[in-house]
Amino acid sequence: MIDFPRGREVVLGIGAGIAAYKSCDLLRRLQDQGFLVTVVPTPSSLNFVGRATWEALSGREVKSEVWEGTQAVSHVALAEKADLLLIAPATADLIAKLASGRADDLLTTTALATTAPVIVVPAMHPGMYLNLATQSNIETLRARGITVLEPDYGRLTGKDSGIGRFPETSRIIEAVNGISGTEGRLVGKKVVITAGGTVEAIDPVRFIGNRSSGRQGLAIAFEALREGADVTLICAQTEEFLLEGIKRIDVTSAVEMQESLKAELKGADALVMAAAVADARPVSKSAEKIGKATYKTIELTENPDLLAEAAREKLTHQVFVGFAAETGAGIRERGLKKLHSKGVDLLYVTDVSGGKVFGEELTTGSLLNKRGESWDFVSIDKFELGRKIIGEIAKEMEMTNG
Ligand code: CTP
Repeated sequence: MIDFPRGREVVLGIGAGIAAYKSCDLLRRLQDQGFLVTVVPTPSSLNFVGRATWEALSGREVKSEVWEGTQAVSHVALAEKADLLLIAPATADLIAKLASGRADDLLTTTALATTAPVIVVPAMHPGMYLNLATQSNIETLRARGITVLEPDYGRLTGKDSGIGRFPETSRIIEAVNGISGTEGRLVGKKVVITAGGTVEAIDPVRFIGNRSSGRQGLAIAFEALREGADVTLICAQTEEFLLEGIKRIDVTSAVEMQESLKAELKGADALVMAAAVADARPVSKSAEKIGKATYKTIELTENPDLLAEAAREKLTHQVFVGFAAETGAGIRERGLKKLHSKGVDLLYVTDVSGGKVFGEELTTGSLLNKRGESWDFVSIDKFELGRKIIGEIAKEMEMTNG
């Protein structure tokens, strides 16, 4: 089972302020940025926005009391799962509770139990916000390393105006991105990624396959999600994995992958061809298991080169990334040649002499781009390479699309 790094899980705490309704949009924007959000409303906040709304928007179960589903010990489970706790809106009462360490509902118990970074977004009447009690509580939270955003000035509920307005969603997202180390560079972009090794059937029980684990493609998919991309993963044979938030299409052979690619490339902004596509397949798949007596030779026919074929139809705004697995001397030069012959913007060439790389967590190779730039990597984590590739894709997009 492939383990993904942490960093995508946000627990969104909702306090009992009218601004709770604005957090419905905040939740959507967090999802756009690739975060997986569990909403924890305080019981009284449900007067403003009900559980059904949070469940429908988050697609996850919503609890507000520690007494719901006690066997799961929800506050501890949530506290451990959270990569970030974002409390928005936070009322004066909720801030006072957090400052004094009180814990009488699911949100405040989770806040006390978690070691994840915490962001608090106050929203209340100016009188309550400026009251020394609230200000002193905010100072206490800041002194503990909690990020407390300044509210906006402006119109409040009723006729009043002043400081205390819930900040613009973009300011909250900026704070979340800053703390989680992401930039949302691929928000609104569709990225198609292929991963794993294709399986070319010989008969109902035998096939021609390869040693790809799919790990590199999956690492790239994870990093694309972290930058907010809309990710389609066309998946041949891989190690088992579970990656929330992707559109997953399972395929077996190169020809099947070709069909999915054709459909998915429509409307795509980038293609990362990390799959190990078999160069050839048996001329025909025997309907029956081939007996020992006749299992001597397998006649092969060439598979289409999916990447080269897709690159011929590539639109100017699209960014394509290829991979090359080489053995022996002159690996980098061959990579460069392949970058041009395949017509891609970026290519990662890796040394697979002696079966290196397959299924491993580390990779050694060079990332090359069509401008002649290159980056060499020695035994780096495949997720780190994934981050670099996604960063270079974002740069290419910026350069071509302005
Ligand atoms: N690829 C593909 N279709 C194929 C074979 C490969 O799209 N039939 C893609 C791979 O996903 C990878 C890149 O092309 O991104 C490089 O593949 P490589 O393993 O180097 O295969 P070939 O291009 O066939 O090169 P060689 O002749 O060295 O095997």
